[in-house]
Amino acid sequence: MAKISTIGVLTSGGDAPGMNAAIRAVTRAAIYNGWNVKGILRGYEGLINNEIKELTSESVSSTIQRGGTILKTARSEEFMTVEGRKKAYDNMIASGIDALVVIGGNGSLSGAQIFAQEYDVPCIGLPGTIDNDLYGTDSTIGYDTALNTIVECVDKIRDTATSHNRIFFIEVMGRDAGFLAQNSAIAAGAEAAIIPEDQTDVDQLEQFISRGFRKSKNSSIVLVSESRKGGGAMYYAERVRNEYPQYDVRMSILGHLQRGGTPSAYDRILASRMGVAAIEALKDGQRNVMIGISNDKIVYVPFNKAIKIDKPIDKELINVLNVLSI
Ligand code: F6P
Repeated sequence: MAKISTIGVLTSGGDAPGMNAAIRAVTRAAIYNGWNVKGILRGYEGLINNEIKELTSESVSSTIQRGGTILKTARSEEFMTVEGRKKAYDNMIASGIDALVVIGGNGSLSGAQIFAQEYDVPCIGLPGTIDNDLYGTDSTIGYDTALNTIVECVDKIRDTATSHNRIFFIEVMGRDAGFLAQNSAIAAGAEAAIIPEDQTDVDQLEQFISRGFRKSKNSSIVLVSESRKGGGAMYYAERVRNEYPQYDVRMSILGHLQRGGTPSAYDRILASRMGVAAIEALKDGQRNVMIGISNDKIVYVPFNKAIKIDKPIDKELINVLNVLSI
């Protein structure tokens, strides 16, 4: 295997709190190991357009506490093409980059996998997404912070919901995964969560209504996962308006505020551990793996597993919410 002396690091896809802590950890661990570090701006777009700059230990000073990503990010359509990846590879070689660390979600790691196959480039992935939808890791960088942000918002909505005796449908992010909705519902003491993983023949709204909601309560909060499969909060609020006009219904879409803010201590530690592990993995000759965390231990998850296998929601979490929302 070719000797590594310079690594490239990029963030790609939706930004997530803790990405800066990950960039910092990758940069400092690589420098500690005697390697050079190149920061690639705007994800794969920056690799295609040759937006590459040297990173030093000072470049990442005072970034651990900052949300977003100092390297900026993008969802690159061009990198999905053979021509785009060729340009990216040529720029990578011209900049002297021997290996890549990609911080991002499902799409970003899929890109890394194809690139690594086509050009035999050692690639290591760090799971950076608020969605927590990557298989093989208990948590992704940004998930804990987003969860806490959502809970803070739901607590505030609860005040007004209770004052007006209303039902609120609150839509949260997660793409096709319900981790944010399910766990924020538990943490905020919500009455129900409607998540894509729980799509059965039984309508989740009917289930919620038939459990006798509001019998003993004067307000209800339902967390709804944004989903391409089912309807969002607007859909459920409309249905209640039409099917149960006796209830006073409102809905709220939390949107991109869920992606911002200073990362939690958990995400900073997770990102720091994963960043150091990425460099250790490269030193050990590992390639095409995502760094994960399982039972508080660092694990290496082959890209094809991390990306291709659907990460299941523990049924226990669904039960906990059902039991506690009586
Ligand atoms: O993957 C992270 C995420 O925030 C998803 O939860 C959401 O569906 C998507 O990104 C939104 O993407 P964009 O910011 O490009 O609209």
